[in-house]
Amino acid sequence: MINFRPQNYLMKKIKMKFKRRTHTCGELKPTNADEKVVLNGWVNRKRDLGGVIFIELRDRYGVTQVIIEPEHNPEAHQIGKELRNEFVVSIEGTVRQRPDDQINKDVTTGEIDVIVDKLVILNEAETPPFSIKDEVDAFEDLRLKYRYLDLRRPVLQKTLLLRHRMYQLVRKYFDKNSFVEIETPVLMKSTPEGARDYLVPSRIHKGKFYALPQSPQTYKQLLMVSGFDRYFQIVKCFRDEDQRADRQPEFTQIDVEMSFVDIDDVFEIVEGLMKVLFKDIWQLELQTPIQRLTFDDAFEKYGTDKPDLRFDLELQTLNSVFEKSGFKVFKDAVNNGGVVSALVAPGCAAYSRNQIDNLTTHVKKLGAKGLVWMKVNENGIDSPVAKFLADDEKQNLIKSLSAKSGDLILILAGKRLKTLNQMGGLRIEMAKRLELLNPDSKPKLLWVTDFPLLEWDEETNRFYAMHHPFTSPRLEDVELLDTDPGKLKARAYDLVLNGHEIAGGSIRIHSSELQAKMFKVLGISKGEAEKKFGFLMNAFKYGAPPHGGIAFGFDRMVMIFAGETSIRDTIAFPKTTSAVSLMDDSPSEVSEEQLKELHIRIREE
Ligand code: AMO
Ligand code: AMP
Repeated sequence: MINFRPQNYLMKKIKMKFKRRTHTCGELKPTNADEKVVLNGWVNRKRDLGGVIFIELRDRYGVTQVIIEPEHNPEAHQIGKELRNEFVVSIEGTVRQRPDDQINKDVTTGEIDVIVDKLVILNEAETPPFSIKDEVDAFEDLRLKYRYLDLRRPVLQKTLLLRHRMYQLVRKYFDKNSFVEIETPVLMKSTPEGARDYLVPSRIHKGKFYALPQSPQTYKQLLMVSGFDRYFQIVKCFRDEDQRADRQPEFTQIDVEMSFVDIDDVFEIVEGLMKVLFKDIWQLELQTPIQRLTFDDAFEKYGTDKPDLRFDLELQTLNSVFEKSGFKVFKDAVNNGGVVSALVAPGCAAYSRNQIDNLTTHVKKLGAKGLVWMKVNENGIDSPVAKFLADDEKQNLIKSLSAKSGDLILILAGKRLKTLNQMGGLRIEMAKRLELLNPDSKPKLLWVTDFPLLEWDEETNRFYAMHHPFTSPRLEDVELLDTDPGKLKARAYDLVLNGHEIAGGSIRIHSSELQAKMFKVLGISKGEAEKKFGFLMNAFKYGAPPHGGIAFGFDRMVMIFAGETSIRDTIAFPKTTSAVSLMDDSPSEVSEEQLKELHIRIREE
């Protein structure tokens, strides 16, 4: 648009002088009445009533209504006519208190107007691809392409300001507790956190690669060997894994490590931080110690290792009821070491066939073969499988579930973790249907402890570390490493907030012998261990203190504290679920020359 203007217009614009603002757009009150002020900002909205022009001027502090009256200043009024949304302007004017009947209580500056004496257009703007307001109807892809405009929306500004405040609270808290903030390399050797690495090819060393850290895990342990005792860092981590609503390929951790500690010491520090955040952000007094649940109990009661405890709706295991059942689905599950798990949906016996079919479809999508349902009434139960069950079974069932007439019982049977996990999904679905969750539900924190140390992988026929290979087994059952490693529990823990895993950590192995043994169980050969982690195992030979720590998913925390549901809304420039940045179009191709320098040739498939 500017190109069509005469040359002298452009020069005039470039050389334009403007006065610095005296106030922000969120600041003026009746106490400023009659003051001469200067405001700088963006045109949020313009209403031209023929004579008078009303402009909402916006900056990150708020919105102020400025009024351009033709008779007051004809020149400013002439310029005012040209204004459009998102133009950048500077105004000089006089603050005027509004009459009582025109006060707008919803805005902090709603009691005043500024009558414009002088108006300068600092820059024009093309019509934005979507409106700059909280309730935007544009698709997320469009918003991400024009992220710099999206970020003008008050809701995103608010979240990023909250994020800023949380950084400050975190830094202040750890500093106060004698933690040292130390940066660790971004170009490093690959660490084993379970995801794929992002790799960076070396130009100088042909065929060699750096990895971007999935976390600073090995470095923070080395810092303990160095004697730093209490470390923290707010740090970017990179993981090439499937994206979800609460995952990003690059995300931020609050990384923490401590020496001479056991689980309770780590918990105490973490709980102290959560108290600060709850108080400062939510004005809530967090009661400590935070509730703890073992991994096994969490699965048994909630069908997940990150239960949302804002509502009850517990699962119940019915194996003892169905040990000798005539119903094959239940009997087989019990006899094959599986589980029969039930959920009582209070007052749902009136569910229609259609509603129940929907539930069945829901659990089938989660991988279940079917869903057993039973409606409890005065005479017992009404269910398609009732005919397979003996009378005492039915009675025991109702008794152990404390089910009442009018309730609906939902049951799945099968392999333990898989079935409980499906029940966990059903629990969430029922909570939605029963509207057990509302925005005012009090936030709920939970420690999940005693995770299994190892996970058996059917496909590759080997154990994997459930957390990472530096996690210490529980000392009381360390002998199982030689006999039955699958049964070993770890000194690992997760912190769960409202059903999201917001932090995870463990007490580490600090003996090189135990670490070597652990690698052996994981099927990592001596040579491979030496090559991958030799530096860490060597360090452990020179006086490694007992140590442990934790890392918080900072973006997830901001998401929950801000009341958002997508992690992308907490990050200034996020990537899509397919790990693309739509704004600057990365990843992108690079020149043949760059590739050559890096000794890389792209293979045509
Ligand atoms: P872990 O892998 O559990 O532990 O990560 C710690 C926390 O980081 C968050 N998180 C993520 N957030 C956003 N996007 C992702 N892709 C993503 N992946 C993880 C989660 C998680 O709880 N080094 C260990 C910590 C330790 O043992 O001290 C680690 O990284 O909230
Ligand atoms: P079937 O014996 O396969 O005809 O199944 C009998 C009933 O049990 C049907 O209502 C199925 O939906 C249900 N069902 C089958 N497998 C399972 C299972 N693993 N858990 C719960 N219900 C099941």
